[in-house]
Amino acid sequence: MIIVIAGKGGVGKTMVSSLLVRCIAELKKDAKILAIDADPASNFADALGTKSSISIGEIIQNFNNIKDKVNFLDYLQNKISENTIHTEKFDFIEMGQGEGAGCYCSVNDVLRFVLEEKQKNYEFVIVDCAAGLEHLSRKTTTGADILLIVTDLCEAGFRSAETIKKIAVHAGVKEDTMFLVINKVKTDSEKVKGDSEEAKTDNEILNERAENTEILEICRIPYDKNITAYNASGTPLIDIPADSKGYVKIKELAKFLMW
Ligand SMILES: Nc1ncnc2c1ncn2[C@@H]1O[C@H](COP(=O)(O)OP(=O)(O)O)[C@@H](O)[C@H]1O
Ligand SMILES: [Mg+2]
Repeated sequence: MIIVIAGKGGVGKTMVSSLLVRCIAELKKDAKILAIDADPASNFADALGTKSSISIGEIIQNFNNIKDKVNFLDYLQNKISENTIHTEKFDFIEMGQGEGAGCYCSVNDVLRFVLEEKQKNYEFVIVDCAAGLEHLSRKTTTGADILLIVTDLCEAGFRSAETIKKIAVHAGVKEDTMFLVINKVKTDSEKVKGDSEEAKTDNEILNERAENTEILEICRIPYDKNITAYNASGTPLIDIPADSKGYVKIKELAKFLMW
């Protein structure tokens, strides 16, 4: 199963991706899981508490410098295997950047190839996508079983979600495999000090927004101080306490996706 996580920058894609990896590992012991960082600006490796790998972008660039050309796909396959990071619970690959002048082939084109290849060896592939839509527009997600579009409460997040959906539909992704994940939802009692009594609660705002979106909402993840604190201190998010509000919700989401 390939699960692609997309959405505007800062909405919580890396949070959802990393906690999903942990939940799946917990729910299905011994499942082979591959985490792919497809966002050059991402910190997926940090969130997972693993080190960065030599990225696919770097591998492609190195190929450009080889004098005696070997078969590109063979080279790619070998190098990807060599540079996949193995941990106890999951494997990890970083796409990186590599679309400089003279590049043999773009990272995004290769992502599609990687997904096709890796699907054979892994039960679960979790892809933390770039905020931009280039992966989708290059039809990378056509092979996705599930597309999770993450947004926070902001209007811009919802607008990005709609755009992502349109691009994904255009790229051939089936609508019934796309779900909206709304993140950082505060409870009524968590309203910021200074909010007037009349100020709408997060859930009221969301109910209005959700009414105007055509993407099927799958879950609302609460605002969770543990998540903020772990990110702020650079502690791997994957290690947050199991009773953290956000984690509990992602576990429900993982159960739903897995069954
Ligand atoms: N549910 C949440 N509660 C509180 N803070 C969150 C939550 N989800 C994400 N954050 C914070 O929002 C910021 C962006 O999250 P991140 O996962 O890196 O977003 P993206 O990958 O979409 O850019 C981080 O600082 C993170 O701590
Ligand atoms: Mg990210």
